[in-house]
Amino acid sequence: MRRKVIAGNWKMNMLPNEAIQMITELEPLVKDTNNEVVLCVPFTDLFYALNVAQGTNIKIGAQNMHFEEKGAFTGEVAPGMLKEINCEFVILGHSERRWIFGENDELINKKVISAFEHDLIPVLCVGEKLEERESGQTEQVILKQLENDLKGVSEDHLKNMVIAYEPVWAIGTGKNASEKDAKEACALIREFIHSRFGSETSDKVRILYGGSVKPENVKMYMSQEGIDGALVGGASLKADSFASLTKF
Ligand code: PGA
Repeated sequence: MRRKVIAGNWKMNMLPNEAIQMITELEPLVKDTNNEVVLCVPFTDLFYALNVAQGTNIKIGAQNMHFEEKGAFTGEVAPGMLKEINCEFVILGHSERRWIFGENDELINKKVISAFEHDLIPVLCVGEKLEERESGQTEQVILKQLENDLKGVSEDHLKNMVIAYEPVWAIGTGKNASEKDAKEACALIREFIHSRFGSETSDKVRILYGGSVKPENVKMYMSQEGIDGALVGGASLKADSFASLTKF
């Protein structure tokens, strides 16, 4: 049985005091859930968020990292820096990183490998753009991203991984994917993992849907077989809406 994950992605929002307040409000609302609750916060909130979340069932993640250990990489944050402060998760390959900041699969692959080496759990995002969906390339795009982003990753590592199917056209647009499209894409991802890494791995890896998930539509996704949770942007910023997502 795969445990469902509800992961928030705050993106570039929330000052430290807002982060502390939100997590303090969230904690009593989610303390009885059986689902895994994760908040991926800006770097400057990490330390505060980890402090308030300590001893609760709320896990904290980052939204990006560099793959190198250390060195002359101005403005970057190393995996060991995240691990050292007890960060558990890191979002990698988010479409905003791919399409605004030009991250390619080769770079994302290095980050995925490095995250595992540092005992961080990557939340790898894949998904097609609107024009790719409209021209029938959805499967091809997702498979290419998986093929390239997961090169050289071991079965043992992959079992612990979280993969999020996030169609680019659904992110922050209010235009969420249909349950059928989300289910098909998540099934495609699992089939890929099965074909490359075997059934033990594909049974364990958790595959989420992300893109305009809200309290009103979360249940529709969570009731689909093979969708193991949600990656949530906008609706993760407020304690009550995020908490209601964990209680689908
Ligand atoms: P959204 O963002 O829920 O605001 O669409 C999802 C994401 O970017 O992970």
